[in-house]
Amino acid sequence: KIFANTLFIGKQVISLPSCHSTNDLMAQLSAKKQLHEGAIIITEHQTKGKGQRGNQWNSPPGENLTFSVFLKPNFLLASQQFELNRIVSLSVLDVIKEFESSVKAYVKWPNDLIVNKKKIGGILIENSIHKGNIAESIIGIGFNVNQDSDLLVTATSLKNVFDKKFELEKVLLSVVEKIEHYYLIARSRDFKLLHQLYEEKLYLKDKVAFYEDSTGKFNGIIRKVSPEGVIEIEDEAENFRKYQFKEVKLLS
Ligand code: BTN
Repeated sequence: KIFANTLFIGKQVISLPSCHSTNDLMAQLSAKKQLHEGAIIITEHQTKGKGQRGNQWNSPPGENLTFSVFLKPNFLLASQQFELNRIVSLSVLDVIKEFESSVKAYVKWPNDLIVNKKKIGGILIENSIHKGNIAESIIGIGFNVNQDSDLLVTATSLKNVFDKKFELEKVLLSVVEKIEHYYLIARSRDFKLLHQLYEEKLYLKDKVAFYEDSTGKFNGIIRKVSPEGVIEIEDEAENFRKYQFKEVKLLS
């Protein structure tokens, strides 16, 4: 058995052949005070995996990573929730880069990890707020590792990109070590560094693309993501349109 080279993330690991959703199970165990900060729940098979926007997250049993990490980031205000997205996105992207530094891996705001224009992973973060701060955070990660078959045209996996299989446990530990690395940067309040690194990895930044918001479709260019996670897209009339989660969709 391999152990994570970390201070606290991954010291408590709950590994199950199957469960509904690692995020949901983590919420249940957290309510029963059974988790330490840094706990991980990982399963080979989720029967009710949850994705963004109420979607399902389906992953063939045993081929990919589906896990959740338990954090207590009470140094973050509720308005700083997006720092957690940054931490996790940068972590997964670093792991992909470590296999092959020439690979272009991006984060598609707010939560999708992209390689070769296809989604290789997704993040679902569920926070509980106490007195204006984030008391507990359940960080769910779905990372396509060895999946080969049945990949949607819009999805990919490490196996697909690098043409070889990976040891799930090793990939998990690498992700976990990176999460702790970036989490400690956030805890030391170096948000500027996190913001800068995130902007560098932002998919379609400064490129024209086709978007849709509640008023219709438009051509625009992503200019930046604000500290709070609001995306700013410049449209053809040179207006800066600002969006929260779920208010805008990339069409092309
Ligand atoms: C998305 O891109 O839609 C987010 C996907 C998040 C999936 C992970 S898999 C582990 C954790 N448990 C869940 O039920 N969902 C997240």
